[in-house]
Amino acid sequence: MVLEKISESVVKKDHAPKMAGESIYVADYNTAKDGSRILTGKVLHAKIARAKVLGVDLPEMPDGYLYVDAKDIPGDNNVNIVLDDMPVFCRDTVEYIGEAIGMVVGPDEKEVDRILSAIEVRYEELPPVLDLRTAKEAFFTYEYGHGDMEKAFAEADHVYEEEFETGYQEQTYLETQGMMAEPEADGSMYVHGSMQCIYYVHGAVKRVLNCEQDGVHIFQDVTGGGFGGKEAFPSILATQVAVAAKKANAPVRCVFDRREDMEYTSKRHPSICRYRAAVKDGKVTAMDCDVVFNAGAYSTLSAVVLQRGLIAAPGVYNIPNIHVTGRALKTNTSPCGAYRGFGAPQTFFAIERIMDHIAQDLSIEPLAFREAHLVKEGDSTSTCGRYHFPVPLQDMINEIDKVSDFRKKRIEYNKPQTGRYRRGIGISLNFHGAGFTGSGERDIIKAVTRLRKYADGSVEILASNGEIGQGVRTTFCKIVANELNLPLSKVRYEHPDTARVPDSGPTVASRSLMTVGELLRRASIQLREIWEDGIEQEVEERYRQPDFLIPFDLDKFEGDAYPTYAWAVNAVELEVDTYTGIAQVLGAYGNFDVGTPMDYNIVMGQMEGGFLQGIGYSSIEKMDYDNKGRIRNNSFSDYLIPTTKDVPNMQCMLHVVKYPDGPYGAKGAGELPLVGVPGAYVSALEQALGGCKKHSLNHAPFTAEDTLLELMKEAE
Ligand code: MOS
Repeated sequence: MVLEKISESVVKKDHAPKMAGESIYVADYNTAKDGSRILTGKVLHAKIARAKVLGVDLPEMPDGYLYVDAKDIPGDNNVNIVLDDMPVFCRDTVEYIGEAIGMVVGPDEKEVDRILSAIEVRYEELPPVLDLRTAKEAFFTYEYGHGDMEKAFAEADHVYEEEFETGYQEQTYLETQGMMAEPEADGSMYVHGSMQCIYYVHGAVKRVLNCEQDGVHIFQDVTGGGFGGKEAFPSILATQVAVAAKKANAPVRCVFDRREDMEYTSKRHPSICRYRAAVKDGKVTAMDCDVVFNAGAYSTLSAVVLQRGLIAAPGVYNIPNIHVTGRALKTNTSPCGAYRGFGAPQTFFAIERIMDHIAQDLSIEPLAFREAHLVKEGDSTSTCGRYHFPVPLQDMINEIDKVSDFRKKRIEYNKPQTGRYRRGIGISLNFHGAGFTGSGERDIIKAVTRLRKYADGSVEILASNGEIGQGVRTTFCKIVANELNLPLSKVRYEHPDTARVPDSGPTVASRSLMTVGELLRRASIQLREIWEDGIEQEVEERYRQPDFLIPFDLDKFEGDAYPTYAWAVNAVELEVDTYTGIAQVLGAYGNFDVGTPMDYNIVMGQMEGGFLQGIGYSSIEKMDYDNKGRIRNNSFSDYLIPTTKDVPNMQCMLHVVKYPDGPYGAKGAGELPLVGVPGAYVSALEQALGGCKKHSLNHAPFTAEDTLLELMKEAE
């Protein structure tokens, strides 16, 4: 592939300090900003999934140690996320194991631990809701559809009905959640730490401390990965340390250990999808999708996660009649939240599985069956929006076939296999809606960015998007440097601080580069036009909705849910050892259209990393809670993630369809490569086991143990 100049890779802006071990993460500060000692804060976590808290009996508190809880909150005991249901510290009841009851604060960490273990919480236990299948309370319910379902099902030659299930996925960023609050001399509160969204944290802390806009300022420290896990949870931890710092009138820092992080922070929503399909003359004429997400104990981000899942429910296929219902149900477990893909991996798994199964039942090659249903430019989306731009799936499929020999191998592996080792190859197709869902950009985020040019001719980017390993500090600078024709060293983008930068929105939804990057490109044009040497100048750019958009109406669930889409084709080839159940990935082939790459290496890093996370999600990343609501997969020995050794042959490539409203044609990239992987992986595994008539595989992850269980069924 011939790279445009903007796509040529550079050394990342944060490369040198990270490589040298010089980057300061929140856990690394030795003192507070004013040189004072940092107190350690540790959360008193609920040990029961649902209970009334009758009382908290504290041991005698040594000098300098204190206990903080809801009574110490100056403002609302609500963490500002979407709804107002998540408390900073528990109200009268605890709703999940791990919920924060209070926080112990003091100078010596060991003493804080000792006090925590000496605290007696008196509970009156209440029956918890743990089973998603019997859970009733829905935080959010949506329904949409079009066409004539009844007629389509009445006229169908075949009707298929299947249920699909997916599990938790934990983000496993290398740096655990951590936050620090420092009271300032002027009475304001300075909060910094590991996070994706400084203004989300700002809004949350401001409300809890009951102060004015400038009563709080938030700074993103160097952040060791997010993957969605630092979209909402940091708002919770930030409010807790802020309340503690306020009460102690001293800096307080809380850094989770791995076990706390794995058990108590947000994860990907487990799901159950029930799909019903009507087929006539070899084509799917109707699809009825019922989607249930396990939201956990509080609603946090579940509304938007569910929306994204539902929009993707019919996949990349033209199905004339659809009906989609979705519910985010409450259970007494850790609130689920954002994880790369944000609701879409669950429904893409369901649609890809059922398309595979229908094809096998009709004795049509599953890829050909998919190809006969592909959406194309100009078609309606699931929500009666439009695919305004070219849909490159067919070309991308052909390219994947070329590198993987997919079609040939698929036929080859369909022949009966009886040996110890058996092979399969699977494919999946998916999009990822680029940017924030619905009218979020226009109505909620309203992004603002600025460029400040200094007298020395250097330019600083003022925006609120955080570097979380996705390279935004570098790619933003590349866009501005390119447009102003400056050397990259003359453009800088510091870690965002709400005291210095406007709100250009959260670092989520694969939106930063596409949406904010385009604002920066336009701001650069403005600056170029007024540029005068030797003086300081500043320009501002605000989000404007593209004219072509059909506005999304959430009540009707109708319109363009996204301005455009990034596209992916994944193929996975594997070999199962029928003695151990272990599947070895032989080839992982990905073709991704994320528009123009703003930096080839950065984008390929995103594609490969996301693909690998997707393989983990499909195969070994298993997490669940027991009958008391406890998560036991709470370390890297009980919750396995893949390493490069697990996927020796990964081949990713880019297929570029430029998006005219993204900078130089760039689209959202970060989430896309993970979304479709479970469909391809499980399809490959199913083929290796003899196809769906022998073994219909309907859940992910599908572990080695699951495979052995399937094989035992066969032996019986
Ligand atoms: Mo992201 S999964 O939208 O934080």
